[in-house]
Amino acid sequence: MDFKSLMRPHMKDISPYIPGKPIEEVRRELDIEGEIIKLASNENPYPPIPEILRAIQEESGKINRYPNSGSHYLCNDIAGHIGIESSRIFVGNGSNEILDLLVRGFVNPDEEVIIPYPSFIAYPLIIHLAGVKEVKVPLKDYRLDLKAMKEKITGKTKMVFICNPNNPTATYVSGEEVAQFMDGIRDDILVVFDEAYYEYVTAEDYPQTVQLLESNENIVILRTFSKVYSLSGLRVGYSISDPELVTCLHMVRQPFNVNRIAQAGARAALKYSGMLEERVGENARQLKLVSDELRKYGFTVPESQTNFILAIPPEGMVRDLVGKLLSRGVIVRGMSPFGLGSEAIRVTIGTPDENSRFLRELREIIS
Ligand SMILES: Cc1ncc(COP(=O)(O)O)c(C=O)c1O
Repeated sequence: MDFKSLMRPHMKDISPYIPGKPIEEVRRELDIEGEIIKLASNENPYPPIPEILRAIQEESGKINRYPNSGSHYLCNDIAGHIGIESSRIFVGNGSNEILDLLVRGFVNPDEEVIIPYPSFIAYPLIIHLAGVKEVKVPLKDYRLDLKAMKEKITGKTKMVFICNPNNPTATYVSGEEVAQFMDGIRDDILVVFDEAYYEYVTAEDYPQTVQLLESNENIVILRTFSKVYSLSGLRVGYSISDPELVTCLHMVRQPFNVNRIAQAGARAALKYSGMLEERVGENARQLKLVSDELRKYGFTVPESQTNFILAIPPEGMVRDLVGKLLSRGVIVRGMSPFGLGSEAIRVTIGTPDENSRFLRELREIIS
């Protein structure tokens, strides 16, 4: 049966999200015996600390019961961690779920969402699933062009996504740029700051968007436990916004959207978040090391404020870089569909050993 013909028209042509290849799959497909390293999904290379694993284990004995439906206790903990009212926090099955709830809950079919391009690959997917349109605004020098994004606002605009730092270019926009963007924005436009890499940022002029909430009711800030907290596999993210918007998100979510183990793991992660400092410092050191080395080989590497880098080789240096690295057991993300050059790659910062291995394999490929 041609099930596709039975689908709702606006969903028929959606390209599904293609995740970074899992290590086991690459081993099976390519019959590689040695160690395979995955630097393709901006995950934390380190497993969660033992305290988190213990909390997860303890909670797993209770999974015959449904979880707390609104992630009440986790909301309290997040609010305490940030220093705001818990009525401003909403927890989702990854921050991806919240993006989806926002678009489906607020954007009408004749309205538009302004997004940067290239940016997080899930944005167009989520927007198309909701049957609405996006307006893509090209980056300038690998950075979000907030001025151009503001100029694209029309009577149809309902939402704007500001991915800061931006995936896949790893660059950020400053507090000053954000303030200029927010100045005069209609208050019936929701401005969504996607701050998935917030904890990795070291730039001093990075915007503290939580402080903007007092004067801008139309701001939504998204953060996640998937990156610095090493909990990608649990699926927990959260938003910070006006309490009334939180009420709306509860209206449109699934009854038990965040599972028990995820809630327990995230609570433990917050309790021991002081332990992350060392890993954030290590990420910054490794980020510099890998970026500097790639620049020595002639790659263009925009300054990163995240746990990954965009690396663009000089024209004609190499062909099928992603495939060649893969055949040597190194999984990175190809960026060719993004108009960043046919051989552009996005590489997650791994452990020091993984990063040395990546650089070694790369050197051999290009030499
Ligand atoms: C910019 C950006 N936003 C959101 C996400 C998704 O995060 P989560 O795992 O919380 O759904 C990612 C994950 O890669 C991301 O890069």
